[in-house]
Amino acid sequence: MSHDHDDASKPEYMRRIRSFVLREGRMTPAQQRAFDDHWARFGIDYAGTPQDFGERFGRTAPLVLEIGFGNGEALAWASEHDLERNFIGVEVHGPGVGRLMNALAARDARNVRLYKHDAVEVLEHEIPEGSLAEARIWFPDPWHKKRHNKRRIIQPEFVALLASRMAPNGLLHLATDWQPYAEHMLDVMEAAPAWRNAIGAGQYAEKPDWRIETHFERRGLKLGHGVWDLLYRT
Ligand SMILES: C[S@@+](CC[C@H](N)C(=O)[O-])C[C@H]1O[C@@H](n2cnc3c(N)ncnc32)[C@H](O)[C@@H]1O
Repeated sequence: MSHDHDDASKPEYMRRIRSFVLREGRMTPAQQRAFDDHWARFGIDYAGTPQDFGERFGRTAPLVLEIGFGNGEALAWASEHDLERNFIGVEVHGPGVGRLMNALAARDARNVRLYKHDAVEVLEHEIPEGSLAEARIWFPDPWHKKRHNKRRIIQPEFVALLASRMAPNGLLHLATDWQPYAEHMLDVMEAAPAWRNAIGAGQYAEKPDWRIETHFERRGLKLGHGVWDLLYRT
């Protein structure tokens, strides 16, 4: 039996196959300062209980979740150009979280809160059912090798969990530069009972203008990859 095989005798956190492997690079002094100076304002410490986001933001507004925001350039841009909505970002990579907090602090952003934690656990335990207007997962780790495909975050159980956290008619926006992952996403989403393709069954979407080009997208394009967007509603 492989070490990450399901094993009912182990506690839940040891059984789950995670979508990331943390290879935490050193934080630069600026990134460390970001945690010292800005975490109290932008950060949410994972507690494992459902959050009252209206209270967190001091206002009720449609809630947008971005999972795996990387260095946060897309989230910084989106929150600046969409001031009427509240944004939650979830990322496990500390330097990226620090970098985004510096960008948010520089323009005194009020509509963004961040978790530095596994998004699957955040969804499961902190995001209330029916609370998300939109969820974005842009350029998730493709886990190219066949034996690693099971680490891809887009899986039937995960998209069912996500659907339960969406408000009625909630939007899920996926993007990838890796064609086999795009095909996998399409297969999983078309088969998911709680989701319907917003463009038409089995179709990819044109890139919507609310998604700006990110670091990983630029890297993919340089390597000659295409880009696939997928839009689904609950
Ligand atoms: C390939 S990068 C893409 C980053 C960014 N979206 C972009 O387009 O530049 C994928 C990111 O997802 C994060 N990630 C993967 N699994 C995650 C999880 N379960 N919870 C939170 N973040 C996760 C990784 O740390 C990584 O930064």
